[in-house]
Amino acid sequence: MIVCHCKGITDRELRRRYDQGTVVRTDDLYEQDPSKKVCGGCRPLVDRLLREYAASNEPPRDNDAL
Ligand code: FES
Repeated sequence: MIVCHCKGITDRELRRRYDQGTVVRTDDLYEQDPSKKVCGGCRPLVDRLLREYAASNEPPRDNDAL
């Protein structure tokens, strides 16, 4: 699924860049490949996906095992 049309970024590519540590904030994505303009329309979606990626990488809390 395309998440950013301006940059031509799919959710898989966003995840790959997150896992590599090159995109941890939406602005990181926007600052990459400056030859492509950004409209900002995808910010809510990209913000949400990055929060989900961060949450999925958190270690389980002690009471999660109960
Ligand atoms: S759709 Fe992502 S900046 Fe325009």
